[in-house]
Amino acid sequence: MFRVCFVCLGNICRSPTAEGVLQHLIDERGLGDRLSVDSAGTAAYHIGKRPDARSIATAKRRGFELPGVARQFTTEDFDRFDLILVMDHSNEQNVLRLARDERDRQKVRLFRAFEPEAGERAEVPDPYYGGDEGFEEVFDICERSARGLIEYLEAREWR
Ligand code: 4NP
Repeated sequence: MFRVCFVCLGNICRSPTAEGVLQHLIDERGLGDRLSVDSAGTAAYHIGKRPDARSIATAKRRGFELPGVARQFTTEDFDRFDLILVMDHSNEQNVLRLARDERDRQKVRLFRAFEPEAGERAEVPDPYYGGDEGFEEVFDICERSARGLIEYLEAREWR
């Protein structure tokens, strides 16, 4: 089983959207025995909360459900996951600060690097303080990046 954890700041907008999109693709493609997915936030503000209502509404309009309740990323997550996919450079710094060694650090990647043509350092922008169009943009980015991630795994891990 290849285990992926998405990480953003609050674990209520971007990382639950990424998790819901990837889980949908896993179900659709019958990859449930090969790939598992979870999410977490680097901050503690929203622990125990369901995803933001705007993220849930955006996903629902496209026929996707968003899972879970918010939790905080911990050092033990480096042992529980093969790949830790962060949304932006700030999440990346926060997660790398918790890494114990090079093996931990190697697991951390920007999620959007898997979106074709987006670029190695591209970010998933934080939609929290903006309008509804920001949530639509986050969903679209997550969908393209999740498809790119599955293609990467098919080529690199599952050959
Ligand atoms: P997320 O969005 O990191 O995508 O879940 C945010 C959620 C909450 C806050 C910031 C970003 N906040 O400042 O409370």
